[in-house]
Amino acid sequence: MPGTETQRERVRLFATGSCEGFEKLRDSLASHPEIELVGASTDVAGGAAALAGGHLDAVLHATRSATFPADEITAIREHASCPILIVASSGSAGLLEQALDSDVSDVLLLPQLVENVVFAIRKATHSGRRHAANGAAGGGRHGKIVTVFSPKGGTGKTVTATNLATACAKFEGRKTLLLDLDLQFGDAAIMLGVEPEKTIYDLVVAPGELDSEKLAGYTTKHASGLYVLPAPLRPEDAELVTEAKLGRLLEVARESFDVIVVDTSPFFHGPMLATLDRTDELLLLCSLDVPTLKNLRLALQTLDLLSFPKSRVRIVLNRSNSKVGMKPNEVEGALGMKVRFEVPSDRAVPLAVNRGNPVVLAEESADVSRAIKSMAKELFRAPKEEQGKKRRFIPALSRA
Ligand SMILES: Nc1ncnc2c1ncn2[C@@H]1O[C@H](COP(=O)(O)OP(=O)(O)OP(=O)(O)O)[C@@H](O)[C@H]1O
Ligand SMILES: [Mg+2]
Repeated sequence: MPGTETQRERVRLFATGSCEGFEKLRDSLASHPEIELVGASTDVAGGAAALAGGHLDAVLHATRSATFPADEITAIREHASCPILIVASSGSAGLLEQALDSDVSDVLLLPQLVENVVFAIRKATHSGRRHAANGAAGGGRHGKIVTVFSPKGGTGKTVTATNLATACAKFEGRKTLLLDLDLQFGDAAIMLGVEPEKTIYDLVVAPGELDSEKLAGYTTKHASGLYVLPAPLRPEDAELVTEAKLGRLLEVARESFDVIVVDTSPFFHGPMLATLDRTDELLLLCSLDVPTLKNLRLALQTLDLLSFPKSRVRIVLNRSNSKVGMKPNEVEGALGMKVRFEVPSDRAVPLAVNRGNPVVLAEESADVSRAIKSMAKELFRAPKEEQGKKRRFIPALSRA
């Protein structure tokens, strides 16, 4: 190809998927002076190498799905962290609505003038760059750390953490890490039905500096797209996971994941304090019983002493529909805080736990699954509103 005359740096673009009219658009983009079409692949797996190593500025993904193609976006996100734009030849209201809540930059309905598509791609890469500049040094992401805690055992921390993380990966299309910080008796991997080869213990005792690539070598992938870093296999190995090691681990994880969900034990130990220092949202699990409420009040006081901002605490009432002579508003009165999420009790939960399959996957439409899925959606709502202002849907040109 002859040397480019354009003054602007060309956008390195990769095209994935297919839909009516996409081939024609791809051809037009390939010959556009502002675009460098690095490659194309109708299925994401076929383009994995280019997506991961192509130093891409954006991915343009065509879908035939009438609803939001969460699986397809998750598959792309596994390899590439750059902005993703969706094109479709017809879009349902559901597709548009769900796209608004995802991290997809734009949705374009075909047919389109190629200039409009180039404009949308440019716009997405600009805000992507700004994001990277604002994020942690060296990484394009600044993942959100969501810690699930309760000062009482058995309140449902692991059920909530595993299902929330699965929902973030599977239904929100976020690159998600579940970190099991119940260092002595963690059972997140078992609840997810994964058999890890490596755990957080192997990671912290491995020689050399920790970086994103090294972290990737120690995580285990779940079928939902979620990455898991399990607790040590033996309780005595827990003490090697020090505060300093964990702090570094979280900083590194932030650079390569959109969200890191941390499951915990009911104690404020060193690694937990290092986690709190970096926690963006603390989900405090509560249930309708007096001892838990008492401990939760104490935990809120401790958090106060640690200067943990109250604005980052969300009370989650698990088994909220249990008939035990206490109402959710009594919990609010006792804690002096609003209950932000209610998760009902459901027999499907222990069944799913025993099968090693998260209930949000096993019983997608059960009330408990809906509650956890909406919690996952809510986690991203605040920054989304800001992004939503920048994002738009680009309707198809009139065919008339
Ligand atoms: N919403 C729910 N409906 C029905 N059962 C539930 C629900 N939440 C949790 N459970 C059950 O309670 C048990 C304890 O939950 P979980 O292991 O998540 O608690 P935990 O807080 O992580 O406990 P630990 O402090 O021991 O780690 C689970 O085996 C699960 O079957
Ligand atoms: Mg647990």
